[in-house]
Amino acid sequence: MGPTFKGTEALGDIVVKFPNAGDIFKLNGIDFCCGGDQLLAEAATEHNIDVAYILDELNRSYDEFQKLGLKAVDWTSAPLHQLIDHIVNTHHAYLRQVFPPLTELTTKILRVHGKNHGDVLSKVHRLFSTLRIDMEEHMIKEEEIIFPQVVDYEKNPSDDKLQKVIHAVEELDREHDGAGDIVKQIRKVTDNFKLPEDACSTYIYTFEKLQEVESDIFQHIHLENNVLFARLTGAHKAHMIAN
Ligand SMILES: [Fe+2]
Ligand SMILES: [Fe+2]
Repeated sequence: MGPTFKGTEALGDIVVKFPNAGDIFKLNGIDFCCGGDQLLAEAATEHNIDVAYILDELNRSYDEFQKLGLKAVDWTSAPLHQLIDHIVNTHHAYLRQVFPPLTELTTKILRVHGKNHGDVLSKVHRLFSTLRIDMEEHMIKEEEIIFPQVVDYEKNPSDDKLQKVIHAVEELDREHDGAGDIVKQIRKVTDNFKLPEDACSTYIYTFEKLQEVESDIFQHIHLENNVLFARLTGAHKAHMIAN
């Protein structure tokens, strides 16, 4: 049997099949959540990454994953309300829990290390604060308004409801682009989370947590854009063709 991934697959589809691929992409600077439609070989070339190298990494890691008998939940066929519960209970809950301590941490390292690293740390402080506000408002909108509309559509589907949901989802999609940009900027201004010689343990811990947030947000946006929203727009397209 040949390798599972050949490079002709879309980034989002690869992560749907194998979520750990998200980490490999992230480490190589490849955006699989907001740019999930791009093909792997294309994305690698654009980032000056050897296609054979990334395919090898990906296939090896996938083989190990399978050898361990692990299986990713197939969110492409699970009921939408289950996928929504998973997004809210896993990714929204995680951000709600990690935001307050990270506000304190990014403020603290700015205060303590601002003298020597003020340029980087004030940017991190500002970017993180913006990300927090944007994501908090965005998640409230999803949980209180838009996700309930999706669940209602799933229960009692109608063309009107689908139209409304598709419209709402386009707005969420734009907000994801904004959040994704902030996350990428944090990586950029910190020069890939490079630690200075005099970084204290709080500094190190803050940078670790920020990278954890980056990974989680990428998986979160990926599930919404490439699975949840893609399934809804797919239903919309199927409907248009049928009529
Ligand atoms: Fe969300
Ligand atoms: Fe979202």
